[in-house]
Amino acid sequence: MDCHSSKLIDDGSANQGELGEEYSSQDFPVQIYSRKNKFQEGEVFVGFQKEESDLLNQLASITKKKLQVISIVGMAGLGKTTLATRLYNHSYVESYFYARAWITCSQLYLKRESLLEILRSVSENTDEICAMNDNMLAHTLYRALKGRRYLIVVDDIWSIDDWNDIRRCFPDDKNGSRIMVTTRLKEVALHAQSDGNPLCLRFLTEEEGFDLFKRKLFEDGNLFGILGFLGKRITRNCCGLPLAIVLIAGVLKNNFDFLLWLQIQEHLSSYIISDYNQYMDTLALSYNHLPQHLKPCFLSFGAFPVGYDIPVRQLMWLWIAEGFIGQDGRERNLEDIAEDCLMDLINRSLVVVGKKRSNGAIKTCRIHDLLRDLCLRKAEEENFSPDIYKHNKVSFSCPHSLVHPKFQLLLSTNVLAIPSNCSCYSSEGSQSFCKQILSVWDASEHTRALDLSSIEFLVFPSEVLQLVHLRYLGLRFKSGNPPESISCLQELQTLIMSSRMNMVIPNDMWKMVNLKHLFIKSGENLVDISNVEGEQRTLDNLQTMSLVSPTRPCHNILARTPNLQKLGLCGPLTTTRGDFKCPDLGLLMQLEKLKLSNTISFHQGVRLSISTIFPGSLKNLTLSNTCLNWEEAWIFEMIPNLEVLKLKFHAFVGKDWETRPQAFPCLKFLKLKELDLVTWTVCRYDFPVLQHLQVYHCPYLTEIPEDLGNICTLESLEISGCNDAATNSASDLQEEQERYGNDSLQLIVNPSLV
Ligand SMILES: Nc1ncnc2c1ncn2[C@@H]1O[C@H](COP(=O)(O)OP(=O)(O)O)[C@@H](O)[C@H]1O
Ligand SMILES: [Mg+2]
Repeated sequence: MDCHSSKLIDDGSANQGELGEEYSSQDFPVQIYSRKNKFQEGEVFVGFQKEESDLLNQLASITKKKLQVISIVGMAGLGKTTLATRLYNHSYVESYFYARAWITCSQLYLKRESLLEILRSVSENTDEICAMNDNMLAHTLYRALKGRRYLIVVDDIWSIDDWNDIRRCFPDDKNGSRIMVTTRLKEVALHAQSDGNPLCLRFLTEEEGFDLFKRKLFEDGNLFGILGFLGKRITRNCCGLPLAIVLIAGVLKNNFDFLLWLQIQEHLSSYIISDYNQYMDTLALSYNHLPQHLKPCFLSFGAFPVGYDIPVRQLMWLWIAEGFIGQDGRERNLEDIAEDCLMDLINRSLVVVGKKRSNGAIKTCRIHDLLRDLCLRKAEEENFSPDIYKHNKVSFSCPHSLVHPKFQLLLSTNVLAIPSNCSCYSSEGSQSFCKQILSVWDASEHTRALDLSSIEFLVFPSEVLQLVHLRYLGLRFKSGNPPESISCLQELQTLIMSSRMNMVIPNDMWKMVNLKHLFIKSGENLVDISNVEGEQRTLDNLQTMSLVSPTRPCHNILARTPNLQKLGLCGPLTTTRGDFKCPDLGLLMQLEKLKLSNTISFHQGVRLSISTIFPGSLKNLTLSNTCLNWEEAWIFEMIPNLEVLKLKFHAFVGKDWETRPQAFPCLKFLKLKELDLVTWTVCRYDFPVLQHLQVYHCPYLTEIPEDLGNICTLESLEISGCNDAATNSASDLQEEQERYGNDSLQLIVNPSLV
């Protein structure tokens, strides 16, 4: 196959082949065979194909080695971020650049945050880095990028000074690195891209606008008769602004009431480009037509900083804690109902999907900053949260370093959230800070959700225990344990903690019968049950427990959690003699997600005991350093519902893995990372529904098995840090796939050690 002639953007437009010439060079660093753009299936993208293709040419032009800045300029809601995101996630771009990072600046540019964010993407953020001052950070970033071909996206920058400030951190090694800037201000774009013409993004044409409107309404995008007539008038009044078009389509989706269409059409003004208030009024229609139960969910987005990538699981737990999620009469669990609400907001284009999980589920989401403004405006109008605006007025008398500029006291009256990063350096400071927060908030009465995880306290801030009505609590502290008295938070449903040290989960935690999610982000956290002899109440509500150490007390607790769905164990999972030592999971009939991280190294192939049982309900399994013998893999091959399997860092040891016939009947996602595997053999009917395969840093692997070539469901294969033979076999596999009629397999090959 001639990989160099493959077309990068399948737009059917006149740009065909343009890039083919440019990257046919012999010294082309990365092999790229992709035909499809990752993460873009199902997403409606209208117009701008020519722009996208031109920008891709500029990004990847190997004749222009000098560091180049590429700017996109245009008004809010025109599609700058969407276009930049498509390019950033394009599989070609992903393979071509060795380091990529994305920062969102907004009007409030935060130098430190931005530097840390880029460093997080291009290297590891160690504690050492977090302790550096801004100058040192800038210097470290410069060095981290030095010599590498990188792409940095600086989204939504507002000021020339901010640009000058950050620009200094980007070295020019004449190796094809690029910076992509989006901005609303032409002068910023001109300044940033001093040696070229910024792309002034155009408005969608009337035809494109109508096309977008229709495709957002229905899959087949057909619209006739009177609704077609009204639809055209509606899109005309949206003046080619994609944001306005998708929001109005969101209101009318699944609604064929002619009167509603007429009403919307009459409401729209045609001056939205020149008049901010009219633009906002148009956007507000989407809020006004939201069903009542979705309104508080939407308003809660105002609590997060502009451009913030919001983790959806925590967001949903917050909604539940707040009481925003009510039963829908079908006796479903609240998490499922919350998920429906989020999906509804996404379908209405009010919320944008951010990152995805390996099983395709949504991991993070965002809202457009104009919609965030709308949230705040509506919250005020509707008295959703009279206290919410305090955060602008409150000034804290604690040391400056304590309070992050993005600091916000937010959500509704009942929620306090500080979602960005901030450190508390002295214990005295942190405790008094906590007191201040609580007093400002007048919190003790009502607070139901408190998220202070952006602040690092020295120890667990016991002041929060005054908030006896808390249902959601997020905390970060340097060391120490939560106190026994935590059990006074009897209404607590979600507890999220992180600490630099391992912690002991106190006895009394198990008296908190309403606890649903206990989530500790890292460490080998010990379970204490020393004082609860005879206490054998079951913890029916507990759904998440992660990460805890698999010691005997933990076994004891697991015997009392019949409804556990997610479990993360980190600690000794083998004896020093090499026997596997996992708690009995057989009783956990609801368990869907399991993560096992062993902390004892034993590199001789651990055997499972006969009594080891993995529940049939398991869908998602991650093994790390478990050092299992490959012959034990058949146990996992047979788990009937397993969809996601990640084998990391010596999860198995040994040279040969031979899967048995009909292995992994439901597996959709497989990741092999840092394994010493040499030969991997599969049978013809194994992995019948596999969609994504990732092979990272398996340097001895000789081949990706040929028999994977006939799996017609395979969508992507990523291989990186492997030897040439394995890498070449991946492209053979793609050919094999083509022979079976799958010409959309996306292959990402990157020889770099990411
Ligand atoms: N080309 C497009 N095709 C379809 N929808 C688009 C397009 N551009 C933008 N949108 C929609 O408009 C919304 C706002 O676009 P965005 O890129 O965030 O605007 P900007 O960054 O210019 O303010 C997006 O979330 C998306 O739903
Ligand atoms: Mg934007």
